[in-house]
Formats: sequence, structure tokens, C-alpha cells
Amino acid sequence: MKNLLKTLKRCAVAGAAALAVISLQPLSTAQAAPAPVVGGTRAAQGEFPFMVRLSMGCGGALYTQQIVLTAAHCVGATGNNTSITATAGVVDLQSTSGRVQVRSTKVYRAPGYNGNGKDWALIKLAQPINLPTLPIATTTAYNSGTFTVAGWGSATEGGAQQRYMLKASVPFISDATCRTYSGYSGLVASDEICAGYAAGGVDTCQGDSGGPMFRKDNAGAWIQVGIVSWGIGCARANAPGVYSEVSTFASAIASAASTL
Ligand code: ARG
Repeated sequence: MKNLLKTLKRCAVAGAAALAVISLQPLSTAQAAPAPVVGGTRAAQGEFPFMVRLSMGCGGALYTQQIVLTAAHCVGATGNNTSITATAGVVDLQSTSGRVQVRSTKVYRAPGYNGNGKDWALIKLAQPINLPTLPIATTTAYNSGTFTVAGWGSATEGGAQQRYMLKASVPFISDATCRTYSGYSGLVASDEICAGYAAGGVDTCQGDSGGPMFRKDNAGAWIQVGIVSWGIGCARANAPGVYSEVSTFASAIASAASTL
């Protein structure tokens, strides 16, 4: 919370824009100057089969066929929860061909989550979804290089949610560099990874939260290294995307999943 509060305080000068700007919220009413697109290219049908759109306006990934990994700030408290619908199997949310929609039964939110790091959660589904899952990184070995991000969130800062899944590539940014950006001094180095371009232009945005940041592993398979968490605006210069560092939480995620 420290980081969020600090940023909010500083942003309070900006008035109404403040909340939208930092936004750990799944969706926001952000406006601000139109930023460049999140990534601007459409994912192909079946390209990222593990991607999930959640009804509260977040993304997620199939950790198992019956458990979605998402962000803590996308969900409520741990417990029984039948209010979330997960949609998978389509890049076009309005296409009914191949689309699978399943309700949640339970939510598990990272213990101790308070808006400062630990931004991960699991959603148990009523039935398994017969699609490939996305393995998570269990070591820091893949916390480098170029990552892929994808989702149905805003394509411009303050813009509408998308009907078609968009994808983009963003390079790793070290904690040391990331901390130097205005609004990022509270980065929780052990819990968070930054990615993006200093020049801006490519980023995740509101509604992408909870979705995976992933890359190829040494065997050429996709592996999840991050979870979309927050940023100052979207795709602004010197304001990268911040992602939960999945490897830090890998064993906690695995043991939580085994209880669901
Ligand atoms: N908190 C936002 C959401 O709920 C994600 C923001 C990501 N922002 C960024 N600039 N990368 O969708």
C-alpha cells in the first residue's frame, strides 16, 4: 500500500486523473491524453490458448485446466465465490464457436495482500476447461529477455475494453532501473518485475490485469514469468508496466492450488 499511497498522494495534484493513473483496479475511468496502443496487434485464434478473460474485467491464465491464475487486485477475499465467469477458447469474445464459459467456485487471494506486492490470486472453476495450460516459472532463470503480454484491456490509456485479444512484446527492465522512474520508487523488488520501453508506446493497460506475461523457455515452450499488476498510466515514456514476479510465488501458488 505504501507505494500506492505515495503515488496517490503525488497524483492528488492531478486531481481526477490520480486514481486512473495508478490504478490497481481492474477497470478504470481513466482519461488523460490518448496514449499509444497497448500493443496494437491481434492475437491469432489459438495462439495463446491458455488465455482467460474474467467477467470482472481482468485477464488470467489457465494454471491448471480448472484453476485460473490472476491478480489479487482483481478478486475479493479468499473463500467460496460463484460470481466470476471465465471465458476461454476464443480471441473474439463475441464468437460462440470454440468459446468456453465456466463459473467460479472459489477464490484464493494471496495471503497478506494489501496492495503492495503479492498481487496474485487463484480462481477455481466449476468444471475443467479442455485447453492447454501455461506453466509458471519456478526459478528466476527466465526473469530477463523479451516477454509477451496479451489481453482484452484498453488499447489506449483510458480507452475501451477490446473485443479481440491483443498481444505485444515488452523487454525486461531491471529493478534498479525501474525504481528510478517517477512513481516507481516503492517497487517491491522481490515481488515485482518491470517491463516496457523507456520511450513508452507498448504496454499493458486497464483490463489486462491478472493476465500473464510470458516468454519461451529453453525448450521453446511458453512459460509464465509475470502477472499484469500496475503502471502509471499506460505506455507512457519512463513509466513501464509492473508485473507480479511469478517465480517468487511459485511454491505458494502450487500449495494453494493443491488446496482448491
Ligand atoms: N491495474 C491495471 C488493470 O487492472 C493494469 C495496469 C497495467 N498498467 C500498465 N501500465 N502496464 O488492468
